[in-house]
Amino acid sequence: MDVSKNIRYIGVDDKQVDLFEGQYIVPDGMMYNSYVILDEKIAVFDTVEASFGEEWLGKLEAVLDGRTPDYLIVQHMEPDHSANIKLFTEKYPAAVVVATAKAFPMMKNFYGLEFEGRQLVAAEGTKLSLGSHELTFIMAPMVHWPEVMVTYESSEKVLFSADGFGKFGASDAVDDEGWSCEARRYYFGIVGKYGMPVQTLLKKAAALDIKTICPLHGPVLNEDLPYYIGLYDTWSSYGVETEGVFIAYTTVYGNTRKAVECLAETLKAKGCERVVVADLAREDMAECVEDAFRHGRIVLATTTYNGEIFPFMNQFIDQLVERGYKKRRIGLIENGSWGPMAAKVMRNKLSACKDLTICENTVTILSSMSEENKAQIEALADEILA
Ligand code: FEO
Repeated sequence: MDVSKNIRYIGVDDKQVDLFEGQYIVPDGMMYNSYVILDEKIAVFDTVEASFGEEWLGKLEAVLDGRTPDYLIVQHMEPDHSANIKLFTEKYPAAVVVATAKAFPMMKNFYGLEFEGRQLVAAEGTKLSLGSHELTFIMAPMVHWPEVMVTYESSEKVLFSADGFGKFGASDAVDDEGWSCEARRYYFGIVGKYGMPVQTLLKKAAALDIKTICPLHGPVLNEDLPYYIGLYDTWSSYGVETEGVFIAYTTVYGNTRKAVECLAETLKAKGCERVVVADLAREDMAECVEDAFRHGRIVLATTTYNGEIFPFMNQFIDQLVERGYKKRRIGLIENGSWGPMAAKVMRNKLSACKDLTICENTVTILSSMSEENKAQIEALADEILA
């Protein structure tokens, strides 16, 4: 994971975390990355999560080989990266803390720390020379918090990208589906709402000659960078990454599921090669959210429940709306034994989103599938694929 002889990796693996950021399952663990640049001056990039302070300091000491760090660069104040600022600054009292103007009050609020007299406030374009390495700080507000900055090192052409280009998984995670699977779930779960700020950062990054990306989670990226940057461009502009239809459903007694299965078969029979189906009650919600953003055509199927919709669908749509879901074609399937309301409720909830096309053909099931429903499904399939 070292970038080069003088840019070293001192991050840690977290195999104990049950829910990252209190909500995301991470069956393959999590990486909290930290880097050191060794030059005439020594800079350390970000700390790690609270439980790993001593392990991280041990790795730092090994890399320092008797020297002392001059700077602690704090790019992001979320505690998975900032929790050991106190430990570091107590151990290395001469080190200067480098961060944005918005980050320093957060250090006080989170940890009661103030660095008057030993701080450098970075603004857009602020430069810091370490000798042969030169750092340029680039403001990246709301990627993922307001105080975030990223850092470009020009001699080795390295972008330290904070949460950008991060992913779930420890360093030994086996990504059967490639980097993008857990990077996409991470992006849409954590950064997804902030497409515009990510676009702004990508435009700044486009002006730089980048050979290596060093994120705060996930592997160092040093080849095929246009692939990763292209995915970030698609994701942050709410573009469609994969052709096909994503069907998200809930079911109580299996009747709504039967309609979903019928639709999936109908879509395939009409030539749609990729149909992805998810039971919102049984699959990871973050995985379903990323699938909704990944595809351009979505069908939502749920029951009427307490005059509203089934709770998992309610939560799912809320998560899409919160993240600025847009530019998609949506089909609706509702089930209601005596007063079907679900399609109307889903339509109302989705009205908060921009640029959605809701199909006119709605499937309304009255308890269980009827012949009429089969005709409605046929019509919906034609319209969603149009
Ligand atoms: Fe990895 Fe927004 O913290």
